Parts: sequence; structure tokens; C-alpha cells
Amino acid sequence: MARCRLCRPGERRKPAEIYLPAHRLPLCREHFLYWFERHLERTIRSFRMFTREERILVAVSGGKDSLVLWQALTSLGYPADGVFIDLGIEENTFSLLSQRAAEAMARRLGRPLHLLSLRKELGFGIPELRRKTRKICSLCGAVKRQYLNRAAKRLGYEVLVTGHHLDDEASSLLGNLLQWNLKYLAHKYPVLPAERGFVRKAKPLCRHSGKEIQLYAEIRKLPFLPEGCPLAEEARRPFYAQMMEELEEKTPGTKLRFYLDYLRKAYPLLAAHKEEFMDRELLTCENCGEPAVSSPCLLCRLQEEFRARS
Ligand code: AMP
Ligand code: FES
Ligand code: ZN
Ligand code: ZN
Repeated sequence: MARCRLCRPGERRKPAEIYLPAHRLPLCREHFLYWFERHLERTIRSFRMFTREERILVAVSGGKDSLVLWQALTSLGYPADGVFIDLGIEENTFSLLSQRAAEAMARRLGRPLHLLSLRKELGFGIPELRRKTRKICSLCGAVKRQYLNRAAKRLGYEVLVTGHHLDDEASSLLGNLLQWNLKYLAHKYPVLPAERGFVRKAKPLCRHSGKEIQLYAEIRKLPFLPEGCPLAEEARRPFYAQMMEELEEKTPGTKLRFYLDYLRKAYPLLAAHKEEFMDRELLTCENCGEPAVSSPCLLCRLQEEFRARS
């Protein structure tokens, strides 16, 4: 059996329990945790995402990705606080259990968690929006993005981080590349600076696969909610994610290379022209003053619509 590559050569190397095909690395459990956190630290530094002196806010959904991110950042000594948005999904089950997972994690880390509620603050939850559209995930995503941006600024944080990981990033890159969606591609980078009313955003897990994250969550016994959102459409990440996995199985390391080469070789070319790819210019919402592609912005429009109904 292969031996852990990181156990010290002088000592008896432990048998590897974990093999990371993309990195050709056999590891014991302790060294997997060590590797995972170092890999994260390298990502944060090489993309200049943030420093230990900055105020960092983790968007915590209660799922494994964001809990892993919060745990690993804290273990590395980054002083990160959490924010959870109650989306009002099946009150007594999904949103409540997600909140409990986020709260359990905050207690475990001894870090503050801000609790926000869409219904309390804006007068509607995601189920109400479901009645308006069949593509609830993209509308929900847009609402969450705008709401999190507002919240991070209001709460005084310098950077907002989310649990998006390599599988998310590589499969959405593939999907958008197949459609030559230049507007999207020109904005696809793991850290986006604070500008024009947007807080700085970062995706520190962008070089970690879903499997690595799952393993970290299990070994550290994190209190994550395993179930996904009950409203998510079947074909949420249709076959791009599957295609990516098939490529990865045939040639391990493809997913990471595909994503990193894009960032290194293609992104700078597209980003230099990003204004030209926008189909709508960025405005300021006349109602709330936030950046938006329309005025009033999405949140103000929805808020008004639900206020008028009640
Ligand atoms: P998703 O779009 O559900 O895959 O979520 C992507 C990322 O958004 C998660 O890893 C979290 O960082 C963040 N996020 C999703 N849902 C919530 C929520 N209810 N509250 C706070 N952050 C969230
Ligand atoms: Fe957004 Fe389920 S979390 S639709
Ligand atoms: Zn080891
Ligand atoms: Zn607005």
C-alpha cells in the first residue's frame, strides 16, 4: 500500500488512506487536513484575496462547502465571522435546519454569526418567488448576491467570501465557454475588487474539489446539513458538471488545469475588454442607492411588489 507522502521520511511513514488523483498525492488523514489548509492558504495568497488583518465575512449556508471554508479559515488564523440568510424555505425543515447547522458551527468556532431574514427585512421569502418563475435557482442566486453585498457593507466587512469550489467554477466555466458567454467569462475570477458599490468578493475554495471538501468535512466531523435545497430544479447544473467529472476520471487533474489555465491565459485578455462585453451598463438604484443593471434594482422591485400585495 502507498505510504503518506507528507509523513516525515525519518519516521515510519503511515499508510496512505487518501489518494488525491489530481495532485498524485497519497496522504494519511492528519496530513490530508494539513494539505487542505496549506492549499487554501496558497490560494488566498496567490490571488491576494485578503489578509489576516482584514474584516472577513463568510456567507454560511449550513451546507458542507461554507462550513468547511469557515473552519479552515479559522484554523489558519483568519478572523472570519459568518452571515446566514434565512430564505424562508419550508420554515420548519430546510431553512431552520440550515440555520441550526450554521449556529452549531459558530459555537464550535467561537465566532460571531449574523442572522438575516429575507421575509423580515424585505417582506418575501424564496418560496414566494418560486411562484413567479420556473428557474428559481438563478433568481434566488441573484437575490442572495445583492442581499449579501448590501449586508457585508452595512455590517462593515472588507471582504465577503463564499463556499463556491472547483467543481462549481470549472463546470460553469465549461457551460459559459460552450456558449461563448463573454460577459460572464470576463467577470469570472476568484477575487473581485471592491468597486462601484460592490464589496470585495472571494472564492477561496476555487482550487479544491467537491470530494476534497466532503472528506475534510467528514474527518473534522463538521455539523453540516447534508440535504440540498428542496426547491432546486432537477437540471440545476445539467450535464456540464457531469462532463467535467467524466473528463476528470479519464485524465485526473484536467478540471484543475482547465480552470487555472483559463485564469492565467484567457481571463486577462477578456478582462481588459470587459466593459465592451456588457449588454447593459451599471446604474445606481434610485431607491436604495445600490449598484444595479436596472433602476429600481431587483430587490427594490420585488420588495415593492410584495408590499403592494399584502
Ligand atoms: P449555492 O448557490 O447554494 O451553491 O451557494 C453558494 C454559496 O453561497 C455557499 O457556499 C455560501 O457561501 C453562499 N450561500 C448560499 N446560501 C446561503 C444562505 N442562505 N446564507 C448565507 N450564504 C449562503
Ligand atoms: Fe436558492 Fe434553493 S437555495 S433556490
Ligand atoms: Zn502523513
Ligand atoms: Zn434598490
